Amino acid sequence: MLQKFSAFAGVPGPVVVIVMDGYGVPKTDVGSAIAAARKPTLDRLFAECPSITLRAHGTAVGMPSDEDMGNSEVGHNAIGAGQVYAQGAALVANAIADGAIWQGQAWREIVAGAKAGRGVVHFIGLFSDGNVHSHIDHLKAMVVQARAEGVPTVRIHALLDGRDVPETSALEYVVPFEAFLAEVSSGGFDARIASGGGRQYITMDRYDANWPMVEKGWRTHVLGEGPQFGNATEAVNGLRERNPGTIDQDLPEFVIAEGGKPIGTIEDGDAVVFFNFRGDRAIEITRAFVEADFDKFDRVRHPQVTYAGMLQYDGDLQLPKRFLVAPPAIKDTSGEWFSRQGLAQFACSETQKFGHVTYFWNGNRSGKFEGETWQEVPSDVVPFEQRPWMKAAEIADAMIAALKSGQYKLLRCNFANGDMVGHTGNFRAATMAVEAVDLALARLLPAIEAAGGVALITADHGNADEMFELDKKTKQPATNKDGSFKAKTAHTLNPVPLILFDKVSGGRLGLKADSVAGLSSIAATTANLLGYAKHPAWDDSVLDVK
Ligand code: 3PG
Ligand code: CO
Repeated sequence: MLQKFSAFAGVPGPVVVIVMDGYGVPKTDVGSAIAAARKPTLDRLFAECPSITLRAHGTAVGMPSDEDMGNSEVGHNAIGAGQVYAQGAALVANAIADGAIWQGQAWREIVAGAKAGRGVVHFIGLFSDGNVHSHIDHLKAMVVQARAEGVPTVRIHALLDGRDVPETSALEYVVPFEAFLAEVSSGGFDARIASGGGRQYITMDRYDANWPMVEKGWRTHVLGEGPQFGNATEAVNGLRERNPGTIDQDLPEFVIAEGGKPIGTIEDGDAVVFFNFRGDRAIEITRAFVEADFDKFDRVRHPQVTYAGMLQYDGDLQLPKRFLVAPPAIKDTSGEWFSRQGLAQFACSETQKFGHVTYFWNGNRSGKFEGETWQEVPSDVVPFEQRPWMKAAEIADAMIAALKSGQYKLLRCNFANGDMVGHTGNFRAATMAVEAVDLALARLLPAIEAAGGVALITADHGNADEMFELDKKTKQPATNKDGSFKAKTAHTLNPVPLILFDKVSGGRLGLKADSVAGLSSIAATTANLLGYAKHPAWDDSVLDVK
């Protein structure tokens, strides 16, 4: 059980944690959709309330290095668990560096499974070095190892990124990788890219938002249906010509074929590795491969393959059963400990971020802890630059209703706007996204005050705070050949705000500025606001009690 916090008896009402997804604090206002947005509520909060910044990238959230930007998985893990664990990116890199991955049963079964069948290993995954869902170096290491272990054929199904890396960078990965594959394809070994497409167009849906996307991926990778090209470099060039202005993440599917015949359909007896380490966008395609009674779309054909995920994507559902590297074993999350304390908790977001405030928050568990209520607001299925307000109003409605019910001591929500619209690279839409969140806050905060509660307003990582690629030297926006600014779709390395909205303590509460504090300090801060000491495993609170 949590102990009482000696310095403060706790606020009378609930503690609300509000995550403004993709809202960083940039060093310069140049290119910041947040600076350009009209946001009177946030401006007032920053002017009047205690606020500090928290680290939200790199080692502060369990990434391999401080060059790595943050992302929603590691951010929500850190916020919910109050601790920092080495995350998928680091765990896989280490397992490859020390060779443990090749000794593991899953890799052995992949190799043995392929050899017992047609001798084919397929690798499907996000084809970049974004290190959010995957890293191309991991793929490279597996290709080299497959060759060394005598696997005759490798087929790669490459999901083009442009979302965690620059928006039209696909060829920077595809061209050298095809050269590398050509180089290692000798002595009876044949490794080629066989299919692919934009990650927001096929395969990598999440949270059941858009199954037809996954079906399209299945038809592309497994059945080999789609426009045919001679190699992936030609495919990217050809798709760009046919779809002018379309950025990588939205490019349609492609299939590599010889004489009209796809070179890499997935057949009985093949082995398949889904090489993303992050779970949210890996679960649906994994289900299509491993579930016998799958009913989300007509698979046409369900090849019997040896399937492995890079990690296990859902521990509760054991999805998939076979995985190359064990995921972080996240324990003692705040959700679990507040539940043990008998506190009722409410979690809400729209579909696109629903798993973030539930599954990631609770340490990658898909089940609820006792006393938790989860509410999902269905997301629009449209490109979000067309609806930058997303479901901010409906999330605010749900939160206000939950506050008014008086049932909950802890509430949490995620406003997806800054991130989802930030990822489109559309500056104007991103300013509207921030404005929508501001309006939602203007409605939500009075309800928190009326309930005698306080709010911690924060973010999981930056995104809308830098909408243009900045030139490394001049720090000014980089330009395209036509003089327009180069849009930036990825997350940023900036810290995030932590604002304490408190109308109940009479000014006793503040936040300690601490240059090393990261997102993992929020759990302990929440506990202190409730009048509890932090769990010993959690990182220190930043609450300052006068
Ligand atoms: C995505 O999956 O949309 C991006 O790769 C990362 O965004 P998120 O970490 O904010 O979900
Ligand atoms: Co994002």
